[in-house]
Amino acid sequence: MDKNTIDPAKSIPTFYAGQSIFLTGATGFLGKVYIEKILRSCPDVREIFVLMRPKKGLNLNERLEKMLNLPLFDKLREEQSSSFKKLILVSGDISQENLDLSAVDRQMLTERVTIIIHSGASVKFNDSLKYAILTNTRSTRDICILAESMKNLVALVYVSTAYTHLDNPFIEEKMYPPVVDWRKMIKVAESLDEYILSIFTAKCLNNIPNTYIFSKNLAENVIQEYSLSLPCAIVRPSIVLNSLKDPIPGWIDNFNGPIGLFVVAGKGLLRVLVASNYISQNDIPVDTVINTIILVTWKLGLTTFTPDSTLLVVNCTLPEEKNFTLREFSNIITKLSEEIPCEGVLWTPSALFTESLIMHYVLTILWHILPAILIDLLLKLSGRRPMILGLQRKVYVTNRAVQHFMCNEWKFDNTNSRDLMSLIPSNNREMFSIDLSDFNVEKYARNALIGAKKYLLHEDMNRLDAAKAHRKRMDLFVATFKTIVAIGMLWMIYKCS
Ligand SMILES: NC(=O)c1ccc[n+]([C@@H]2O[C@H](COP(=O)([O-])OP(=O)(O)OC[C@H]3O[C@@H](n4cnc5c(N)ncnc54)[C@H](OP(=O)(O)O)[C@@H]3O)[C@@H](O)[C@H]2O)c1
Repeated sequence: MDKNTIDPAKSIPTFYAGQSIFLTGATGFLGKVYIEKILRSCPDVREIFVLMRPKKGLNLNERLEKMLNLPLFDKLREEQSSSFKKLILVSGDISQENLDLSAVDRQMLTERVTIIIHSGASVKFNDSLKYAILTNTRSTRDICILAESMKNLVALVYVSTAYTHLDNPFIEEKMYPPVVDWRKMIKVAESLDEYILSIFTAKCLNNIPNTYIFSKNLAENVIQEYSLSLPCAIVRPSIVLNSLKDPIPGWIDNFNGPIGLFVVAGKGLLRVLVASNYISQNDIPVDTVINTIILVTWKLGLTTFTPDSTLLVVNCTLPEEKNFTLREFSNIITKLSEEIPCEGVLWTPSALFTESLIMHYVLTILWHILPAILIDLLLKLSGRRPMILGLQRKVYVTNRAVQHFMCNEWKFDNTNSRDLMSLIPSNNREMFSIDLSDFNVEKYARNALIGAKKYLLHEDMNRLDAAKAHRKRMDLFVATFKTIVAIGMLWMIYKCS
């Protein structure tokens, strides 16, 4: 059958044929996986405009080239390397007003773009309020303003987070009342300097745990308001982790949030964590998130927009029956790390979870800081760069930043995900699956661990035997050390009694 005669409602790639996508956050964890997936699974997409800024001494072309050389793109490079030509770089900065777009680029986007995916954001939990509002909230407003000038826009999908409405233990797929007026907040962020705003931060945030969540919460309200004139949708992923299978199992390339902590734990450097043994932390594979974004866009694009259309909000979270507690996940990873250890572990991996901040302080000093000082001293004496204390400082800051999410639990409505799933044409079900009914946490954790070793730590799996041998020596050393300490303490008690 001629491709042009296939009904886009019955074929997702047909819907994407000829579409021009504008993507922010393209260099991020989600953005890269999105680009790979669209180019590979929707080969007739017309183009993807990729908003990018120069960074770390690299210009836009250099950044793109570096990105396309990642293992994530191996499959696409082998199968359809010419599709890379569909990526069109657009210089921009979402922290700047109007995204810092040039007039020429703005004109080009206005004329050609049919789909916008706004995934760009500063995801740091400890950004200043000013930077978070300008980068995450104002950029969303400016995306909407740009979208309003687009003649052929069929969908604007905003990538939010499942944690924007934390006051509610059960998070529905709906909009919640605004916590403050986003227009006023943008004005305040534009007019006050960093220092003055920092004084008001706690008051502004009220119960919201950090500036990231606050700015993303307000961005949802921006989308809600513009959804009266634009075909918008909001996708809310929970904590995004390694890919389940697409294009490779275990893909990951960022250390943000809990991922960084898992990796440090794998090296034996995380011994105590502010976390609950009992709560489920909702994690979701990155390929499921990307398929959800693709499906939401497709659904939006197929629906005739009217100002009465309801804003589509989709929670992209692991279904409740598949959830696992942090303790369960940690135990699985700890067990797996005997078989697939990280290279050069510095201690037998195992972490104690505590919700007591006092206990955390004390054990951090004993188990993290003092050994770090000792190891750094040894590194210095052997002429190498001391770095463990600095790393432990980062671990501490990260743990405190994510502790709210490691000690509290939320449940999520998944009705819209299930509805989306049922809409997928049968011949596209495998390619765009968001079905997690056969999700197996042990299998996922194994791939996640291997993925972290390969893609984050750049460890060669051919050196696994050496890593295992080192791990065995370290386990022996730790057991001996603990025995000596125990005997020493018993001896002291005996002497003192
Ligand atoms: N990862 C998660 O667990 C998770 C969970 C829920 C929701 N989300 C949401 O998903 C989206 C993508 O997250 P991610 O994990 O892919 O984050 P990420 O890896 O940190 O990527 C962030 C992206 O935003 C871009 N960006 C940040 N500041 C910018 C600026 N001033 N100008 C231009 N681009 C800028 C970054 O570009 P540079 O490379 O130039 O910095 C990068 O492409 C975000 O909206 C986030 O809130 C993520």
